[in-house]
Amino acid sequence: MTNLKMESVLDYVIKHAIHKNPKSVLDTIDSYAMNGSLERKRFLMNVGPEKGAILKDCIETHKSKKILELGSFVGYSAILIAMTIGKNDTLISIDPDPNSIRIATQIVEYAGLSNKITFIESRAEDAINNFNLPFDLIFIDHAKKRYLPDLILLEEAGLVKKDTVIFADNVGLFRDQMTEYFKHVRDVNFYASNNIESNLEYRGNIYDAVEISVRKID
Ligand SMILES: C[S@@+](CC[C@H](N)C(=O)[O-])C[C@H]1O[C@@H](n2cnc3c(N)ncnc32)[C@H](O)[C@@H]1O
Repeated sequence: MTNLKMESVLDYVIKHAIHKNPKSVLDTIDSYAMNGSLERKRFLMNVGPEKGAILKDCIETHKSKKILELGSFVGYSAILIAMTIGKNDTLISIDPDPNSIRIATQIVEYAGLSNKITFIESRAEDAINNFNLPFDLIFIDHAKKRYLPDLILLEEAGLVKKDTVIFADNVGLFRDQMTEYFKHVRDVNFYASNNIESNLEYRGNIYDAVEISVRKID
């Protein structure tokens, strides 16, 4: 994603969204992407409102308090997560793109949610060993080829415990690349896994899905 495009999302938010109103910031980012629905150049790879509602419901159902996100982009899902968790709960969001981190930080600040979110500029695989406590929910939404290797790194680092929820986006659109990931999280000895069909963000007619996998053992 070009820096220019991310800058234009930030400008659009500042121009159209209500300051320190996270819902207004998300609606504004949605309207940026939807208004350009026929133009590929305005498409944004956010989780979007439809799959975002599934993510919100999942966090509420599992009462997740300590969340890790792989792939920040412009901070859309970070805002959605931070709006959903309690006031003392936290999100760590990782992305190696310095422009993503810079823009996401500013958009989150504008939404008034900086106190709940820590952004880390890094590839997930390089950051995982710096954490020492397990997470309640891990939102996997970064490089599709890294879903399985990074989940295994998280497991090996002891960051996935019994009842940790692994929520993976885009497993429908990229199903051809998910065979080994599905095999891993659908092993009934380790996870109870559910595939929920949905649509690609901002494109109502393109099939996508999320996979929600709850760890059964420590
Ligand atoms: C689909 S976007 C994330 C969208 C965001 N979660 C949302 O819904 O608003 C994917 C992001 O993953 C980042 N990414 C790519 N490789 C990564 C890696 N190895 N570790 C962490 N993030 C990575 C990209 O820079 C990009 O910003």
